[in-house]
Amino acid sequence: MRHLSLELFDLHDRVAIVTGSGRGLGKAIALGLADAGASVVVCARHTDEVEETAAAIKAAGGSAHPTHVDTSDRESCRQLVETAVKAFGKVDILVNNAGIDIIEPAEDVSEEDWDTIIGINLSGYFHCSQFAAQQMFAQGSGGSIVNNSSIASAVGIRGLVAYSAAKGGVNQLTRVMAVEWATRGIRVNAFAPGYFDNVMRDATTTHADPEKQRQVIEFTPMARRGRVDELVGPVIFLASAASSYVTGAVLFVDGGYTAM
Ligand SMILES: NC(=O)c1ccc[n+]([C@@H]2O[C@H](COP(=O)([O-])OP(=O)(O)OC[C@H]3O[C@@H](n4cnc5c(N)ncnc54)[C@H](O)[C@@H]3O)[C@@H](O)[C@H]2O)c1
Repeated sequence: MRHLSLELFDLHDRVAIVTGSGRGLGKAIALGLADAGASVVVCARHTDEVEETAAAIKAAGGSAHPTHVDTSDRESCRQLVETAVKAFGKVDILVNNAGIDIIEPAEDVSEEDWDTIIGINLSGYFHCSQFAAQQMFAQGSGGSIVNNSSIASAVGIRGLVAYSAAKGGVNQLTRVMAVEWATRGIRVNAFAPGYFDNVMRDATTTHADPEKQRQVIEFTPMARRGRVDELVGPVIFLASAASSYVTGAVLFVDGGYTAM
């Protein structure tokens, strides 16, 4: 028996770029897309990490190309798409995932920190999406852009003023690009993680606090952090033909956090 329903999730012959895939959520997503059959361009600021991710994909029998990107730099985003085309001939899927987190009270956030967070967590998504979409238009076969947002896009979380503003912007960027490109074959969606077991690089001190951990459990109806592999299903769904009539959506993957 052919499993047509499973074929909807098949990503063989697809080329995916996953930004910030050297570690954490991006790494899990890159491994998951490769497992579903995609050739993956693994990229981040730290080259040693992306080489490790690419090696893990290849060791599992998949196809990967590691490269450097700084998504806060528009030219670097343009080169990323060019590199993907040189490596695999095209771009079908872009997962905007690279992000940073600086936890500070709003009254203390410096202009530099504000610009850095907005530059990576919002402008970087815009630059990569624009160059990927131009490439997808040139190919004429459409594509799927999947943005990693956050529960902080929808609720107020102390210490995250710039991060939350950026992620709220990601949701709106998702909707506008989805509307503009809907008839040209490019779908644009977002997923919004809650608290995951990979704590972001700059947030480890805050999350090491037992009080923060208690709050995470108390305010998450499933009473636990997500495992990074629990993002793989939602991302494959949004990237694949399984979601062919879904665009402009923000899928919360948060153990019920925003439902409460
Ligand atoms: N960890 C969580 O619980 C959580 C929750 C909600 C949303 N998110 C989102 O998930 C994404 C990944 O988070 P994570 O937990 O894996 O973080 P992480 O700090 O573990 O990893 C971040 C990755 O992004 C890369 N990166 C950072 N700045 C970059 C830049 N300018 N250019 C290219 N690469 C860059 C890093 O090199 C690294 O590979 C972020 O967008 C974050 O906002 C995470």
